[in-house]
Amino acid sequence: MKHIISCEQFDRDYLEGLFQLADDMMQTPEKYSESLKGKVIATMFFEPSTRTRLSFEAAILRLGAKNISTENAREASSATKGESLEDTIRVLSGYTDGIVMRHFDKDAAIRAAAVSSVPIFNAGSGSGAHPTQALLDMYTIHKCQKPFDHLTVAVVGDLLFGRTVHSLIKLLSVYEHVIIYGLSSPNFALPKEYVDYLHLHKATYIPCTSFEELPGNIDVIYNTRTQLERFTESDLAPREFIVNKKVMSHFSDETILLHPLPRNAEIDTDVDDDPRALYFQQAHNGMWVRMALLYDTIRNC
Ligand code: CP
Repeated sequence: MKHIISCEQFDRDYLEGLFQLADDMMQTPEKYSESLKGKVIATMFFEPSTRTRLSFEAAILRLGAKNISTENAREASSATKGESLEDTIRVLSGYTDGIVMRHFDKDAAIRAAAVSSVPIFNAGSGSGAHPTQALLDMYTIHKCQKPFDHLTVAVVGDLLFGRTVHSLIKLLSVYEHVIIYGLSSPNFALPKEYVDYLHLHKATYIPCTSFEELPGNIDVIYNTRTQLERFTESDLAPREFIVNKKVMSHFSDETILLHPLPRNAEIDTDVDDDPRALYFQQAHNGMWVRMALLYDTIRNC
C-alpha cells in the first residue's frame, strides 16, 4: 500500500513523472475526467484549511471520483467522543478508496498509515510535514523553467513551526548543489534536525537575519507566516520579515516570490502585481499536482 506521508519518500524520477502528469492534466483535463470514476475519497481535516482541502476536493471531483467529508473533524467527528485516530481510520478505510487527512499531531499520518487499508494522503501534520504543499511549491518552480540542481532558495519567517518549510527543504535536498538561506529571528530558526538533514544530503544551509544578506540573483524567495496557532505562552514573538516593493527592488527580474498562503502582513499587497509574485498561481497549481498525486496513487495501489 502506497501512502503519501513525507517528502523523504520521493526521488527525482518520481517527481519528474508527477510533474509531467500534472502538466498533461492541466493541458488536457478532459482525458482524466472519469479516470477515478467509481472511487470514493474522504477528506478529514482536524485543523482549518482553505487551499489544501478545497483543492483536494476539486481534484477528486475533476477526476470523476466522489468525496465524503466532515466540516471540522476535530469537533464534528467522533473524535470528540474519545475515538482514537486509529479507530477512525480503520472505519473510514472500509468506506473509501483513499483518505486525505490534516491533523494537529506531528505523527498522525504515520499512525493513520499503520492501520489503513487504503492510501493516506498527508494534508499537513502538526508542525512536522506538509508534503503535498512542497510538491506544488516545486511544481511552481518547475513551471518557471528553473532547473532544480544548483537552485538557490531563501526560506523566510517562522522556520521553527512552519511545516511547509520543513517539507520543502526535504524535497530540495533531492537535488544537487542546492543552496538554502534561512531568514528568521534566532528564536524561530530552523530546528537542528532539518539543518542536519540538509547537511546529510549535501545541501548548503546559510542562516541569515536580513533580506540584504541574500544574493540579488537568488532563484526563489519563499516567505511564510508566523504559525501563531502553534505558539505557547513561553515563546517569544518572532520578528516579521515583510516583503514590500523596496525589498523586491533588491532582487533580479528572474527571482520568484512564493508563499504557501494564507498570508498575514509578511507580503505587502502592493507586491501582488509584481510579475515575480507567483503565490496565487502557486495555489492554483496545487489542484493539478493533487490531481496527479491522487490519480497515480489510487490507480497504482
Ligand atoms: N497552504 C495551505 O496549507 O493552506 P491552507 O491551510 O488554507 O490549506
